[in-house]
Order: sequence, then C-alpha cells, then structure tokens
Amino acid sequence: MNIRTFVAAALTGAVFVLAACGSKQPPAEGTAVGAPAAAGAAKYTIGMSQCNLGEPWRVQMNQDLQAAAAAHPEIKVVFKDAQNDSLRQRSQIEEYIGAGVDLIIVSPKEAAPLTAPVAAAYAKGIPVIVLDRRVLGDAFTCFIGADNKRIGRAAGAWIVERLGGKGKIIELKGLMTSTPGQDRNSGFRDGIRGSGLEIVFEADMKWLEPDARKEMESALGRFSKIDLVYAHNDPGAHGAFLAAQAAGRDKEILFVGIDALPHEGQVYVKQGILAASFEYPTGGREAIETALKILAGEIVPKEITLSSRVFTKENIAAGGEWLKNP
Ligand code: FRU
Repeated sequence: MNIRTFVAAALTGAVFVLAACGSKQPPAEGTAVGAPAAAGAAKYTIGMSQCNLGEPWRVQMNQDLQAAAAAHPEIKVVFKDAQNDSLRQRSQIEEYIGAGVDLIIVSPKEAAPLTAPVAAAYAKGIPVIVLDRRVLGDAFTCFIGADNKRIGRAAGAWIVERLGGKGKIIELKGLMTSTPGQDRNSGFRDGIRGSGLEIVFEADMKWLEPDARKEMESALGRFSKIDLVYAHNDPGAHGAFLAAQAAGRDKEILFVGIDALPHEGQVYVKQGILAASFEYPTGGREAIETALKILAGEIVPKEITLSSRVFTKENIAAGGEWLKNP
C-alpha cells in the first residue's frame, strides 16, 4: 500500500497528517493535502469545512478538492467534517479564523446558522468560497454551485413530458433549511405549473436515504396510485425505490433524482432504477482553481454557476444531455 503519511505543520496546536497524494480515500478530519515532497513548504493554508461525509456526493466533493489541490505544492488544504451538525460547523469556521488560515472553503449544512461565522471571516479579510449550499446575504468572496432552481424546473418539465401532462407525484424534499432543497422545490413547482400533475404527498427527507424510504412507506400506505417520485437527490430516490420494491410496487412507479454521480445515480439509471437523474456537480475543482486566483490577488466573480446534464436510459451511453432550459 502506498502509505506515505507523515506529520505536517501544526495549526492551532493540532497536529495534522499529510495524506499521500493520489490516494483514493476521501481526506479525513484534519487531513492536509498538497504535493507530499513540498507540502512542508506550502505557502498558503486553506481550511475546508464539509457539512458531512455520510453521503457519497460529499465524499466525491472532498476527493475533487484533494485531486485539484494535489497539483499545487504552494497550497495545503486542511479538511474538517461537521458531521451534519450546524453548530459544529460554526465552530470549525471560528477555529479557522483563530488559526489565521489564508482562505476558507465551506459547504454549509444550513444557510442561516453559517451566515454569521462566514461573514466574520470575510470581515477579518479571510477570503471565503461558499460551495454548493448558500449562506444568507453577500458577506463572502465567491459562491460556486449549479443552479438548483434551473435543475428543479428542468426536472419538472421533463416529468410533465414523460407523463404526458398528468399524474400523481410524490415529492421527497432535501433539507428545507438548506438552499438546494428550497430551490429544487420552487424550481420544480415552476416547471410543472399549468400541467395536470398533482403532488399528492410531500415530505422533507433531509437528503437522507433512510428518511426517504420511511416517508415513501407512508405514501405507499396512503395512495393506491402513484405515478412518479421526484426526490431532491439520488439517495432519496433510491430510498423511495427500495420502499416501493419491498411493497411490490416498483414497476408501476417512475423515480427521478438529482446528483448523477458516475458511481451512484448514473448506475441507477443504467440499471433502470431511476428514469432520470439530473447532474449536480461538486465544484471541487472549480473551488481550488478559484482559491488559487484569489490567493494570487486576482478579482474573481461573486458567483460561479456550474452547468448540469440530465441522464436517462436513452442518452446515458452518449454521456447525458446538457440542460437547455434557462
Ligand atoms: C449531499 C447532498 C447531495 C445534494 C447536495 C445538496 O449532502 O445531499 O445529495 O445534491 O447535498 O447540497
């Protein structure tokens, strides 16, 4: 095994382990990455706070950050996992401020509780890149993420077309105190407006597969006819599928999700479990590219919007199709 770990510089008295470059494992708590030989000489420390590492999509985001950072010996990225706890994530930002890191990247669990610590870092002159989920207001350097309202609208329009304009829908929502949940909901409602689609059941499954499965069990118990489940992420759509399968009803219902990771949602589409998955890129590479520009003194846009594709049985072999709707 390629374990080339060694003790790297201490930050606020804590000792971090420098993981081998190119490792397939996600960076763990307090792990710093950079080019191993030169990492001791890294000029800049970037503190990253990830809201949780319990979901494949977030593991992928950290891997994308790590892979992009590994090519730049002048930066060292320290990772912290907030374990789906907004208070813990607030403290992590405060710790990074106290440690005087050169830049912070945060993927917040929820908008409101993370707004003040992010604004405090920004006010102290520490650049902050907010990744994927937003905070409130504009006291940060740059937001990077895909357009969740647009994805929701595209999913709505796709579903209207797929169902011929009418049907009974279950909406399994992501955490509604996080901005992607709010936007995937409002965008979807815009996308189906004026059609004959009826939302017969909706629930906040908090982005979590087991919660989605439980909510779907209730929906199946209440409704003898369900045409389609729109879940705000692929784990949610998969949880709903498992509940329907256990009830012997998976063949009569279509499942649509969001994320389309190559090893998760795209596989479900290939297997015929999901009728469609809408891509939600992690933005890890773009965050490191943007961090490098900020550290070099360049002015970056306040908002960087990433594009997404839709994957279906028909287009997956060709690499999906870019969203065309505005
Ligand atoms: C992972 C996740 C993804 C989703 C994203 C939204 O925590 O739930 O599945 O697309 O967060 O922020």
